[in-house]
Amino acid sequence: MTVVKTAKIGDVTVGRIGHGLMMMTWRDPNFPLPDEEAFEAIKAGVDAMPEGVKIFLNSGEFYGPDASTANLELLSRFYAKYPEYAQKTFLSVKGGTKANSLVPDGSPENLRRSVDTINEKLGGIKKMDLFECARVPSDVPIEEVIKTLTGLKEEGKFSYIGMSECSAATLRKAHSVHPIAAVEIEVSLWSYEEETKKVIATAKELGITVAAYSPLGRGFLTGTIKSPKDLPAGDMRHRFTRFQEDVFNHNMALVEGVKAIAEKKGVTPGQLALAWVTSLGDHVVPIPGSSNKKRNLENIAAGEIELTAAEIAEVNAILAKTPVKGGRYNDAVDPKMLHLWG
Ligand SMILES: NC(=O)c1ccc[n+]([C@@H]2O[C@H](COP(=O)([O-])OP(=O)(O)OC[C@H]3O[C@@H](n4cnc5c(N)ncnc54)[C@H](OP(=O)(O)O)[C@@H]3O)[C@@H](O)[C@H]2O)c1
Repeated sequence: MTVVKTAKIGDVTVGRIGHGLMMMTWRDPNFPLPDEEAFEAIKAGVDAMPEGVKIFLNSGEFYGPDASTANLELLSRFYAKYPEYAQKTFLSVKGGTKANSLVPDGSPENLRRSVDTINEKLGGIKKMDLFECARVPSDVPIEEVIKTLTGLKEEGKFSYIGMSECSAATLRKAHSVHPIAAVEIEVSLWSYEEETKKVIATAKELGITVAAYSPLGRGFLTGTIKSPKDLPAGDMRHRFTRFQEDVFNHNMALVEGVKAIAEKKGVTPGQLALAWVTSLGDHVVPIPGSSNKKRNLENIAAGEIELTAAEIAEVNAILAKTPVKGGRYNDAVDPKMLHLWG
C-alpha cells in the first residue's frame, strides 16, 4: 500500500488517516493486550507512511482502567524499544482533567501538572507534539486556558496546541489567542450533527486540521459487532446508548445500507465509513482506533479511497433514511457532566 494523501498540522505533514490508541488500554478491564501485539499495530501504521510523512497518533493522559496513565506507559515502552519511531510519529495527547479522572480542570496548576505528567509518563524519548484539553474546561474562560497553554508551549513542553470536543464558537475564540493546530471532534456516518458541520467549516476557514475521532462509530460501523452480546463484560461500549439492545437493530440498518455500497466498490464497510469522513474536507484526518496490525493497515488504506459524487449521494440518502437512535454517549447521564461541544 502506498500512502499518497497527506494533511498538514502546523509544519508537519501527516498521513490522511491517523491512529487512535484509546482502545488499546481502555476497552475493558480484561483487555491485557500484550505489548508486542500493540507495538506491531502501531509500527504497521508508522511504516506505511512514506519518507517525510508522520502518522498522527492519538493518546490521552487518562486512557487506561480507572482513568490511569496506562496508554502513556505503553507508549513509553514502545519508544524505549523503538526510539527511531519517535521522529516518525506526530503524538497528540489529551489531558487537562484532574489527575486520574475525567473531570475538566483548566486551572494553571492543573494544566501544568497534566502536561508534566504526560511527558514524564512518556519516559523522555518522545515528547508529545500536541497537547489539548480533552474537554473545554467550564471553570476557567477558554482565553485564559489558551494563555496558560501558550506559556507551557513556550517552555518547550510541546510544540502545538489543540482543542477537543469544542463548539465552533469556542474554537474561534481559542484561535484568536494562539493558533490552534488541530481540533478533535467526533465525526462519522452516525455522528454528523449541525455542530460537527460548523466546526469542520470553521476549522477550514482558520487553517486548522480536524482529527475526526471514533470515525468507525467505536467499531459499530465496520459491521463486525452483530449484537451487544458480542462485546465482552466490562467493555465501555455497553454504557453507550447506541449500543443498547432496544436500538441496536435499528442502528444496524444504517450499517447494512452502507455495506451494500462498500461491496459494490470492493472495499470493506469500515473503509467506506472512513472514506466518507475524509470526503468532508482535505483538512479532515480520521483517527480510527485499532489494536491490530491488519485492521490498522486496512484503515490506513482507506485514506486513498476516493468516493464519487454519486456514491456520496447514495451514502447520504441512507443516512437521511436511517437516522441514528441514541446520542453520542450515554443519554442517561446529565449532559453537563459530558461537556460535549464545550
Ligand atoms: N476526543 C475525544 O473525546 C475522544 C473520544 C473517543 C475517542 N477518541 C480518540 O479517537 C480514537 C478512535 O476512536 P475509537 O477508538 O473510540 O473508535 P473507532 O475508531 O470508531 O473504533 C474503534 C473500534 O473499531 C475496531 N476496529 C478498528 N478498525 C477496524 C476494522 N478495520 N475492522 C473491524 N473493526 C475495527 C477496533 O477494534 P480492534 O482494536 O480490535 O481493531 C475498536 O474496537 C480513539 O482511539 C481515541 O484516540 C477521542
